[in-house]
Amino acid sequence: MLSNLRIKNDDNVTILTGAGISAESRIRTFRDGNGLWNEHRVEDVATPEGFRKNPELVWKFYKARYKQLSEVEPNPGHYALVELEKKCNDDFCLITQNVDNLHKLAGSKNVIEMHGTLVNCYCSNCRSYYSMSEIDMELPIPLCEHCNGRLRPNIVWFNEIPYELDKIHDVLSKTSILIVVGTSGQVYPAAQFLYYVKRNGGYTIGVNLEFTHDSSVYNEFHKGKSGVILPELINQITQI
Ligand code: OAD
Repeated sequence: MLSNLRIKNDDNVTILTGAGISAESRIRTFRDGNGLWNEHRVEDVATPEGFRKNPELVWKFYKARYKQLSEVEPNPGHYALVELEKKCNDDFCLITQNVDNLHKLAGSKNVIEMHGTLVNCYCSNCRSYYSMSEIDMELPIPLCEHCNGRLRPNIVWFNEIPYELDKIHDVLSKTSILIVVGTSGQVYPAAQFLYYVKRNGGYTIGVNLEFTHDSSVYNEFHKGKSGVILPELINQITQI
């Protein structure tokens, strides 16, 4: 038995996911041995300053990540969270730091992509949005049809403010069960959600391939692959 917890009718369930949930879909994480930040400097490809300095390099990085999306699929961890949402109805929110669209592709509905998404981009001048599928991938720096400004990936970079923080705050303040999956807990504000929910009396569950700096803070911590742990865990905690 993984967990003795049973979700009740009046529970509000929130999930926070990070790169680890997509690792079994063959998407690279950021800080593990083979992580993206071992090969690329954050300052170069994930900051507004990096984009100003070398937009071509930034586009090369995100175009490669966008192209990879057509080769990958959600894994059992993503699908387990879809099942959990169905059982919780409206009392459920999935907050993800991932930009790979795999939660939505799996069928999750109430998703907050707090770090943006790879599937679109916007003009850094007039803020017109474009689907990445309509962008000419051969262009080194795609430009806006309306004002000729530089398009940029719709990714929240370091030194930028994550999306939907007001909504996230509302969600967290009524959360009674928080499940955090596949994140190293190194990036703020997401790293604080665990502490916030715990302080409000919520029950917290961590799932990660490795122990993390905050593993001991959780009420329950499950070490292993999320694609293996989540289906079993969710099956158990949703039993009546
Ligand atoms: P990290 O790369 O920092 O952490 C990934 C976590 O996933 C690690 O703790 C791994 O142990 C764990 N992990 C790996 N494989 C797993 C598996 N199969 N099952 C469960 N856990 C597994 O990625 P994040 O914490 O998501 O931000 O990073 C947070 C943010 O930092 C990202 O959203 C990104 C990055 O810079 C931006 O780009 C703005």
